[in-house]
Amino acid sequence: MVGWVKSLLLLVSCGSIVTAAEPYLEAWRTRMAGITPEGYLCRRAPGPMVVDGKIEEKEWSGAAWTNDFVDIEGAAKPKPSSRTRVKMLWDDENLYIAAEMEEPQVWATLVKHDSVIFNDPDFEVFLDPDGDTHEYGEFEMNALNTTWDLFLPKPYKDGGKPDNGWEITGLKSAVQVEGTLNDPSDKDQGWCVEIAMPWKSLERLRHVQTAPKEGEQWRINFSRVEWQIEIVDGKIVKKPKTPEFNWVWSPQGVIDMHRPEMWGLLQFAKGEGEGALNEPSRSSRRFLQEVYYAQRDWKKAHGNWAKSLQELGVTTEDKTLSAIELRATDEGYECAATLQKQRWSINQDGKFSMSGN
Ligand SMILES: *[C@@H]1O[C@H](CO)[C@@H](O)[C@H](O)[C@H]1NC(C)=O
Ligand SMILES: *[C@@H]1O[C@H](CO)[C@@H](O)[C@H](O)[C@H]1NC(C)=O
Repeated sequence: MVGWVKSLLLLVSCGSIVTAAEPYLEAWRTRMAGITPEGYLCRRAPGPMVVDGKIEEKEWSGAAWTNDFVDIEGAAKPKPSSRTRVKMLWDDENLYIAAEMEEPQVWATLVKHDSVIFNDPDFEVFLDPDGDTHEYGEFEMNALNTTWDLFLPKPYKDGGKPDNGWEITGLKSAVQVEGTLNDPSDKDQGWCVEIAMPWKSLERLRHVQTAPKEGEQWRINFSRVEWQIEIVDGKIVKKPKTPEFNWVWSPQGVIDMHRPEMWGLLQFAKGEGEGALNEPSRSSRRFLQEVYYAQRDWKKAHGNWAKSLQELGVTTEDKTLSAIELRATDEGYECAATLQKQRWSINQDGKFSMSGN
């Protein structure tokens, strides 16, 4: 969803969605900052995994489900009419993802790899391994097991241009339909997907080929696009001129999946009962994010970057943050804050950096 084509449309359309003309800081404060991204502790696979779409099998039984998906805008919108949830596992070779999507009419049309898959109902994965909001991957697939993978150097809003040539080499995927595909004469239960992404194939996102270390944290998000349909001449077709639903794991607050700072936290753990989710950097990242959105509005209004937080009207009550500084030139800026000896910074493209331990 909100893949490249749609994101470009966002910039020219009006209405309730956030457009380029809308103040970013306002959207951040009222729609995004209040959302706590979801988190998932990903366990080691219990043994060899077979990617066949059958996710009720023993190999998956020890993995926890995520919370049910919600609307992309969060609690502001009604709960999805059909349930979606995900499980994840990992081993030395792959990240494994299993998704279960309840669906009364399973349908799909696209059969060509790298088609714009969100034109069908789909399942989508967004991956930013180092959590800097840049160099992330997007993967979409439909109920015909047709896939689309693309690489984003940075989000569209920061001038990122997608690379459709990127391939998640060696990816395995499979679909299991509970019911009948493209048959409107009966009611279906839904569809499941199972995916294995080799660590090697994610090198462009991570700059290493190896499996993550225990305790390593990535940013990940999932989305499901659901179109409103009708039956015409015994065929399932989209209702004309009706928008799609975007159901997601971790809500973004705005109708745009390309806000990696809002994605969920994926933490790799070893065995059963080991490790606990924690995100010590949360308050520093959130503060810097607010500065980033305020600077976007400032630039639009004044044509340059604000030189001080006072000018920007951004303050923080958070006493755990220290050494807060903003340095701006004509070309860009860097804002930094230190939390427990970790110096976090953000720049004009929304890219996070961290130094320290
Ligand atoms: C599904 O797609 C994957 C590639 O993602 C391919 O390896 C696999 O053979 C496909 N399965 C079927 C049943 O077509
Ligand atoms: C994940 O995506 C969903 C749907 O786009 C969005 O509502 C949610 O905020 C995102 N969560 C995160 C943490 O990105």
